Amino acid sequence: MENQELVSRAIKARRLSYSPYSNFKVGSVVLCRDGKIYEGANIENSSYPLCMCGERNAIYHALMNGEAKEDILAVAIVGDSIGVTAPCGACRQVISELLNEDSLVILGNVKGDMEVHQVKELLPFAFSKKDLGK
Ligand code: THU
Repeated sequence: MENQELVSRAIKARRLSYSPYSNFKVGSVVLCRDGKIYEGANIENSSYPLCMCGERNAIYHALMNGEAKEDILAVAIVGDSIGVTAPCGACRQVISELLNEDSLVILGNVKGDMEVHQVKELLPFAFSKKDLGK
């Protein structure tokens, strides 16, 4: 599937967002090797720290359907940003552990702007299981 198509699918996933506090809808999709797509959107809560980002929901959605790290090819993330929507630090940490370093992180916005990065670019010097001796 083309990267631009993944951005379009992430734009559609924004409809699933529950974001009455920020009014900033984030949609995300994960593409797996078998062609399956898993959607996610940000889900907020009146207890603000409980808010969950769209891309983490999409990645967890893929894992909860039995997808393995090796089978995740790309994650696309889209919000209504001036430039492309950058993943937050917490999501970079999760992406760096649950996706392969060569997998794609496709950043977009609702205007259709797009940038393509690799997981390894997002979080240099990340905390990882190596730090735990694992
Ligand atoms: N948000 C995401 O879904 N992903 C990010 O990487 C950045 C922020 C959400 C969290 C919150 O619901 C809203 O955007 C405003 O921060």
